[in-house]
Amino acid sequence: MDSDAPLIRNARPEDAPRLAAAERAIARVPGRLAPRPDEIDDDTIRRMIVDLEERGRGIFLVAERAGTIVGHALLESLSLAVTSHVVRLTIAVHEGYQSQGVGRALMNELLRWARSNPRVEKVELQVRSSNDRAIALYRSLGFVEEGRKTRRLKIGPNAYIDDVYMALWVGP
Ligand SMILES: CC(C)(COP(=O)(O)OP(=O)(O)OC[C@H]1O[C@@H](n2cnc3c(N)ncnc32)[C@H](O)[C@@H]1OP(=O)(O)O)[C@@H](O)C(=O)NCCC(=O)NCCS
Repeated sequence: MDSDAPLIRNARPEDAPRLAAAERAIARVPGRLAPRPDEIDDDTIRRMIVDLEERGRGIFLVAERAGTIVGHALLESLSLAVTSHVVRLTIAVHEGYQSQGVGRALMNELLRWARSNPRVEKVELQVRSSNDRAIALYRSLGFVEEGRKTRRLKIGPNAYIDDVYMALWVGP
């Protein structure tokens, strides 16, 4: 095993403040995560961890290096019966730890879980069209573009970004 490989473990509710702070730092630069920093709060992330990890609506993982959380990623089941075979992906590698293999390690673990879970057949995500790094990672794992909503994010006066819809079929 690569000695720099992060340790991947399931998220715990007490991780929420660190994960929220990391998302706020990432969101300071528009075009990566969709929410603005003041739209990210500890409680929403804590509830998401409980919902996914303790109530079984998906999976919420964190990556650690030397005991420090350096990234997190989750798959969340869609709620309607007709879409319950679909999970939605969110990933955030924390500032200072990007482009070091953490994102790929988290994705590999999420996809391993998705492929071994018979309820999951499709993994979907939305990514800003400006996010070349994320799009390169998703493409390399087999995700394909399914569509695009133009000027969906307004990041300033007369400044817009498209949202790209990507998916990976993991079912039979
Ligand atoms: C996008 C993100 C998940 C990628 O994870 P990462 O840990 O930074 O990337 P990795 O080091 O695992 O690299 C994975 C792939 O991304 C691409 N990549 C990495 N760094 C890159 C860079 N600086 N420029 C372009 N592509 C890059 C490469 O295709 C790389 O593949 P390789 O392993 O064959 O080299 C991460 O940077 C991140 O969370 N960024 C901030 C939040 C965000 O954008 N989330 C996604 C919202 S949809």
